[in-house]
Amino acid sequence: MKLILLGAPGSGKGTQGPAIKERYGICHLSTGDMLREAVAKGTPSGQKAKAVMEAGGLVNDDIVFGVLKEAISKDECKKGYIIDGLPRTSQQAEKLEQIGIKVDKVLNFNVPDDVIVERATGRWIHLASGRTYHTKFVPPKVAGKDDVTGEPLIQRKDDQRDVVTKRLALFHEQIAGIKSFYTSRGLLVDINGNQAPDKVRTAIDKVLSGIRH
Ligand code: AP5
Repeated sequence: MKLILLGAPGSGKGTQGPAIKERYGICHLSTGDMLREAVAKGTPSGQKAKAVMEAGGLVNDDIVFGVLKEAISKDECKKGYIIDGLPRTSQQAEKLEQIGIKVDKVLNFNVPDDVIVERATGRWIHLASGRTYHTKFVPPKVAGKDDVTGEPLIQRKDDQRDVVTKRLALFHEQIAGIKSFYTSRGLLVDINGNQAPDKVRTAIDKVLSGIRH
């Protein structure tokens, strides 16, 4: 099974992606997570991406497609994958198709802007696993600690209110073109992301149950 998760920053892609991975045994490839890892490791791509990401801009296509291609070629992704965070422009959607990446469905998470801002600014992350929490909506069992490992959680620099607003504006500039690209191919499915995480999960399962895997 091959999927793309589409949606604004904070729409729930990073929450649902790892859950789909667990249920269906496929890879979760978050471009944001892969880029953050490159930044943390100080690779040449990471060094170029760092400032752009912290300011809420879009990283150069060569870097983003570079990290995706490297990840997708791994053995663990042979059974399928979830691409989360790409495409962010209609050019990236075209490029994905040109390099032979064809998916079964594109899940488009819909969440109102005011909810997005509240979600992003309250988000805490366990860097090693990508697990996300929210101080109000999805709190960890112990404040500031990962539920599984007990390790400390961190907050992303681009989750500051002014940067979230910028990321959201960029998202709105681009999303119409991406949606029409996938609608014309019969792949786009809208998911109501403005409900509790387990309800979002149920809505996703309903869509995925119709795909052979
Ligand atoms: P990326 O990491 O992809 O950021 P994003 O798309 O902006 O997505 P987020 O991670 O902010 O949100 P999410 O939808 O995963 O939300 P989450 O589930 O965590 O990208 C970061 C940067 O990398 C970009 O800005 C760009 O610079 C660069 N980049 C990445 N891809 C690129 C590309 N293709 N081209 C160029 N540059 C690229 O949820 C948010 C919060 O809400 C959490 O706290 C969560 O606990 C909570 N929550 C989730 N679901 C619910 C729910 N149903 N109810 C209540 N709370 C919920």
